[in-house]
Amino acid sequence: MGYLYRMFGNVSAKGMENMTKTAIVYYSAGGTNYRLAKWAEEGAKAAGAEVKVLKIPETAPQSAIDANEGWKAHAQATKNVPEVTPEDLEWAEAIIFSVPTRFGNIASQVQSFIDTVGGLWAEGKLANKAVSAMSSAQNPHGGQEATILSLYTTMYHWGAIVAAPGYTDPVIFSAGGNPYGTSVTVGQDGKMVEDEAAIKAAVAHQAKRTVSVANALKNLE
Ligand SMILES: Cc1cc2nc3c(=O)[nH]c(=O)nc-3n(C[C@H](O)[C@H](O)[C@H](O)COP(=O)(O)O)c2cc1C
Repeated sequence: MGYLYRMFGNVSAKGMENMTKTAIVYYSAGGTNYRLAKWAEEGAKAAGAEVKVLKIPETAPQSAIDANEGWKAHAQATKNVPEVTPEDLEWAEAIIFSVPTRFGNIASQVQSFIDTVGGLWAEGKLANKAVSAMSSAQNPHGGQEATILSLYTTMYHWGAIVAAPGYTDPVIFSAGGNPYGTSVTVGQDGKMVEDEAAIKAAVAHQAKRTVSVANALKNLE
């Protein structure tokens, strides 16, 4: 055993222990929410978190996916991203969701996953986690805010602490001004209508804030 190890122990393992465990949980058919999730991963890592990017399992029939070129291509491109499990939520101190708007609400895939965590909830294992959410829709007023707020209703039932960005940084104004969570508008071509650099900065701010709130909650009873 080396001198430094004896003096200070395994510094990197000790460092990991103090890093805020952060799960970025997303569902995406066309790739937009995957991009938001990856930007959140970057932002959370820059904030010193230990990060897992996890996809919500698909529930749609393969025939529906195969019939849509964009969906099929995205599913193929992300086939190696690990699927989220209830244990990942138990592990996480901070959770950032990114989910598309479906008729002004969360996608059914997201609801299906949420409905599997009743056991964790009953044991109080979802309480006191810092959470926030992001979303996308095809129209500028297509339901992004409603989707995020709908997800937050579930978070309140968990006893999680919603770390919405509010207007805590000027970048939120540049990104469209959604105080509930970063959101974007995507055309049929899958391109974001907003300035991507502004959205990326807003996502980074939201990730840093969620991690920071999780840090502040570490001693919560
Ligand atoms: C069944 C369904 C319902 C949708 N409902 C809405 C809607 O209410 N408002 C809207 O603007 N876009 C709606 N969209 C478009 C999606 O929100 C958009 O494709 C999604 O945000 C893209 O995210 P993704 O690339 O991560 O899948 C809907 C799409 C589908 C397939």
